[in-house]
Amino acid sequence: MSGLIPKQFIVDLIDRADVVEVVGRRVQLKKAGKEYKACCPFHDEKSPSFTVSPSKGFYHCFGCGMHGNALDFLMEYDHMDFVDAVESLAGVMGVEVPREENQRPTRSYDALFELVSRVEHYFEAQLKTNQQAVDYLKARGIDGATAKRFGIGYAPSGWSNVLDKFGTSKEAIERLLATGLIIRKDNGKHYDRFRDRIMFPIRDSRGRTIGFGGRVMANEEPKYLNSPETVLFHKGRELYGLYEARQALRSIDRLVVVEGYMDVVGLARHGIDFATATLGTATTDEHLNRLFRMCDDVLFSFDGDRAGRAAAWRALENALPQIKEGRQIRFVFLPDGQDPDSYVQEMGADAFVSALDHALPLSDFLLEELSAQVDMESVDGRARLAELARPLVSRIPPGVYRELLTERLAETVGLPSHKLEAILAKDDSPKPARNSGTTTRLRSQQQSSSSGKPSLVRRAITLILNSPAAALNIDVENFAGVQKPGSDLLRELIETVQAEPNITTAGLLERFRNDEEGQHLGKLAAIEIPDMEDFDPAAELADCVTQLATSARRGRIDLLIEKQRLGTLTDGERNELREFTRGSGTAG
Ligand code: UTP
Ligand code: MN
Repeated sequence: MSGLIPKQFIVDLIDRADVVEVVGRRVQLKKAGKEYKACCPFHDEKSPSFTVSPSKGFYHCFGCGMHGNALDFLMEYDHMDFVDAVESLAGVMGVEVPREENQRPTRSYDALFELVSRVEHYFEAQLKTNQQAVDYLKARGIDGATAKRFGIGYAPSGWSNVLDKFGTSKEAIERLLATGLIIRKDNGKHYDRFRDRIMFPIRDSRGRTIGFGGRVMANEEPKYLNSPETVLFHKGRELYGLYEARQALRSIDRLVVVEGYMDVVGLARHGIDFATATLGTATTDEHLNRLFRMCDDVLFSFDGDRAGRAAAWRALENALPQIKEGRQIRFVFLPDGQDPDSYVQEMGADAFVSALDHALPLSDFLLEELSAQVDMESVDGRARLAELARPLVSRIPPGVYRELLTERLAETVGLPSHKLEAILAKDDSPKPARNSGTTTRLRSQQQSSSSGKPSLVRRAITLILNSPAAALNIDVENFAGVQKPGSDLLRELIETVQAEPNITTAGLLERFRNDEEGQHLGKLAAIEIPDMEDFDPAAELADCVTQLATSARRGRIDLLIEKQRLGTLTDGERNELREFTRGSGTAG
C-alpha cells in the first residue's frame, strides 16, 4: 500500500490502456471514422461533441473542453483520486501496481492511519459515557444518527487520557506526536492536545480520519482547536464533510461551502447532505479543484456580516481562474448574525434550500461589491469601477463567460463594450494569477502568438502530441541555442519520444502530468491536425525545428557581430563567429 508508484509504470500503463474501453464502459460510444463519439458526460448537450481517439489514447470534448487520458477520465467521471485511478486501471488490465520501497526511512502511514482510527473510536466511546457532552449535542439539535455518521466523539478532561491509553511504547508515542494528538513539552514529557472537547473527525477522500476539530462546550477560548498540519493532514487541501456527502448521496449535483464544522453537521441533520467546510482557512485552489471535480455547481454560504462578505470576496478572487463554461459559482448571504447551522435550525431545511436557489451569481456579487466602492453617480466613479474590475476580469480564462461579464460591466459603467474592452485590455500583460503559480513559459508563448499564426514552438509541440513518432528522427543537437518560450519543453518532448519510441499521446501527457508547463499540453493534443494523405508530420516537424535552429543561429550571429563592433568579443566567441561565417564570406 505504501511507497510511491514508479512513474514509468504509470506511463506504460497508460500507453497500453484502451481508452475506448475505459470510457465505453461508462458512456455509450458510437464509431465515427477513426474515432468514437458520444454526448459529453461532463456537460449537458443534445448533439455529441465528445470524441475519443483510440490512437491518441485521449478523449476531448469540443463543447466544454474537457480532455485527458484514461486516468483523467476515471478521476473526473468516477471522482477518484490519482492513486485510486491508477489502481483501478491496473485492476481491469490485470496487472499489479508495483511500489517503490521507501528510500528514506519514513514512517509507515498505515500505522498512523490505524492509530488515528483507534483514537477516533475511543473518543466516540467516551461520548456515550459523558452525559454533559451528550446533552450539549442534544441542545445543539444533533441526534444520535447524525453524530454517528460524522463520528462525533468526546475527548475527556485530563492531561493524559490518550497518552496513557495509546502511548504504550516509544514508537507509539512518536506516532501520537506525528498525528498531532499529543504535544511534547520542553522537558521531554507529553500531554494530550484535546481535553474536554467535542471531537469532529476530519476524513480524507477515502474516508480515513486524518485529523480532528475539537470544540469546547463552555464559553472558552479557543472555541475550536484543530489538529496541526501533519503528514496526514493538510488544511489547504481538505474539506470537512466531503467524504460524508459522497457517502450520503448517489450523485452530487451541487456542493455548498460553509464556514464551520457545526454548519456541515447541522445542515446534514436537516437532510442537506451536500455541505462541506474549509477548516478555518480561506478557500484554496486545491479546494476548488476538488469541488469542481465532484460537480459543476458550487455555492458559498457565508454570514451576512462584514467578515462573511470579506471571506466570500476572497473565495471569489480564488475562484476566478476556475471559471469555465458549464460551471456555476454562486454566493448565499444569510441575515446578519446567522450562520447556516443557526438558520436551518430556526427556519428549516426548505428555507435554506430556497436561499440557495436565490443565490447571487459570481458576476452579480462582483459587480455589487465593486459598485459599492465607487460613486456610481459620477463618470469618474464609473471609470474607476472599470479599473477595479480589470485585474479581476483578466484572471478569468478567455471564453464566453468572460465576454458576458465584460458586456455586463460595460452596461453597468455605461460605456460601449469596445471602449470597455480597450480599458480592460490595457494592462493584460503577464500578470500571474494569484494562487496559480507563475506564468509559465509556454503560456507566455501562447499569448505572444495568440494574435497571429501559432508560433513555431507551439506548432512543433502540437505535431509531436498528435504524432509522437514524428519526433524520432529529430536531431536535438540542432536545438543548441534555441531559447524561445516553450523550447525547453519541446526539447524534453522530443527526448522523451526518442527514449520511448512507442509512446502514445496519452503516455506523453502522463509523463508531463505534474510538470508546470505540461499543464497546457492537453489543449494542444486536442488540436486537430489535418488528416490528409500527403501530410507528413515528421517532415513538418523537421521543418519547424530547422526554422527554429536557423533563427536561433541568426540571432547568435547578430549578437556576436554586435559584440565585435563593441570590441567585447572573447577568444571563444571570435572562433565561434569565424565558424559561423566561414564560407558565407561576411566577416562583419
Ligand atoms: P465560527 O466561530 O463561525 O464557529 O467558526 P461555528 O462554526 O459557528 O461554530 P459554533 O456554531 O459556534 O459551534 C467557523 C470555523 O472556523 C474555525 C473552525 O473550523 C470553525 O468551524 N475556527 C473557529 C477555529 O478553527 N478556531 C476557533 O477558535 C474558531
Ligand atoms: Mn455556528
